[in-house]
Amino acid sequence: MNIYLLGYRGSGKTALGRAVAVKLKRSFLDTDDMIVEREGMRIPDIFEQYGEDYFRDCESRAIEGVAKKDNLVVATGGGIIMREKNREMISKSGFCIYLNADVDTIYKRINGDSNRPALTDKSEKEEIKTLLEKRCPLYTELAEFEIDTSKMNFTKSLDAILKKINEIEDK
Ligand code: S3P
Repeated sequence: MNIYLLGYRGSGKTALGRAVAVKLKRSFLDTDDMIVEREGMRIPDIFEQYGEDYFRDCESRAIEGVAKKDNLVVATGGGIIMREKNREMISKSGFCIYLNADVDTIYKRINGDSNRPALTDKSEKEEIKTLLEKRCPLYTELAEFEIDTSKMNFTKSLDAILKKINEIEDK
């Protein structure tokens, strides 16, 4: 069983995922890093040169590879849940944790980050608000556990995740 961390950009998936993997002595993978490595390009450059659909195909390929493996901790790109096929592969191969955060917190964390290309033609804050509304039901549909990282600091979030994993592993 893999452990998947889901959530919007800036929700803490990569940082928490790495820490969870270290604590559980599991390997860690980040689907964005897999894409960057395979394509030999930064994410904004992939978006600019080939477009979002191409990036989403790369993302599906990455998750397909991950879903065939076991015992990983996986940080997923924020938009991975948009494709039904991706959601199916994720839910069949692991336990999902949704890292939620409010719009203002996400904005503060990712505002002006040049490694995160625009996904709409809206202002950055409006984009977060709109996409979060659209994606939130999909994150929650997949996830069996949810924490709000705007209300909990890193250590508390990590402890909550580890406690939950211990519980499910003891069953
Ligand atoms: C995206 C989130 C990014 C990355 C790409 C698209 C999205 O990942 O996959 O820029 O659609 O929300 P992070 O959530 O790790 O920033």
